[in-house]
Amino acid sequence: MKLIKIGTAIAVSAIMAIACQHKANTPAPANTGSNNNSGNNTGGNNTVDTGICFSRDILPIFIANCTQSGCHNTTDKADGYVFTSYETITAKGFVKGNASETKLYKAITDNDPNDRMPQAPSAPLSNAQMTLIARWINEGANNKTDCGTACDSNNFTYSAAIKPMMDTYCKGCHSSTSASGGVVLDTYDGVKKATLNGRLLQAIRQEAGVSAMPSGGSKLSTCQIAQVQKWAVAGAPNN
Ligand code: HEC
Repeated sequence: MKLIKIGTAIAVSAIMAIACQHKANTPAPANTGSNNNSGNNTGGNNTVDTGICFSRDILPIFIANCTQSGCHNTTDKADGYVFTSYETITAKGFVKGNASETKLYKAITDNDPNDRMPQAPSAPLSNAQMTLIARWINEGANNKTDCGTACDSNNFTYSAAIKPMMDTYCKGCHSSTSASGGVVLDTYDGVKKATLNGRLLQAIRQEAGVSAMPSGGSKLSTCQIAQVQKWAVAGAPNN
């Protein structure tokens, strides 16, 4: 049953992919970045502001956990879902103000590992991530892109700065169970290794010769890159 469903999804995606090639200018749904754009853009009509900011807190979770090859990116569109921008995330089966009626929320919280998203072998989202997404939807699903400057480049400890950054922006594609490019970023040892061999910084600075990271997402802010750099210079301590 599941296989048939997957088969159909692949067939549909393939057709959509072919169809899409004929569009001259398919706009890449955009990532608005975290530090441009002034003004508070709000999504729903009854948005309650409790400090969640879409482009900083929500979008990176979707990019890092749902948009891998074959999944919910603009090419593959698995099951018709695309999780690369506010517009596409809220486009299908999405009920602003009601997480429990929202398809994607049901999928990330499904107890059946065969139905749950992200699918095994990827790990489920953390409880904190699920709670955050539920709150965001229940509060009206804001589309805020002006998230202020919460980042302090003088704070670069592993526990307070580096680990949360990896969890939000990188872990979905670089977990121990599915480590893209062999790079593991959900353990201290993995992050330390990738940092001290230089690849991680090259990737987030998006230098030539390495794959630009986070793949499919906006470049990290100057402040975030500075945090990683200072932590690297300090010898990548487990502090
Ligand atoms: C949507 C999936 C995805 C996300 C999110 C992602 N990566 Fe990657 N990453 C990949 C894939 C796939 C590869 C291996 C293939 C390649 O090089 O493009 C890779 C490769 C890498 C490499 C090796 C690059 C090289 O050329 O040697 C590093 C380092 C890396 N990622 C770091 C990160 C960091 C740090 C983040 C978070 C800021 C991140 N990635 C977020 C998918 C992702």
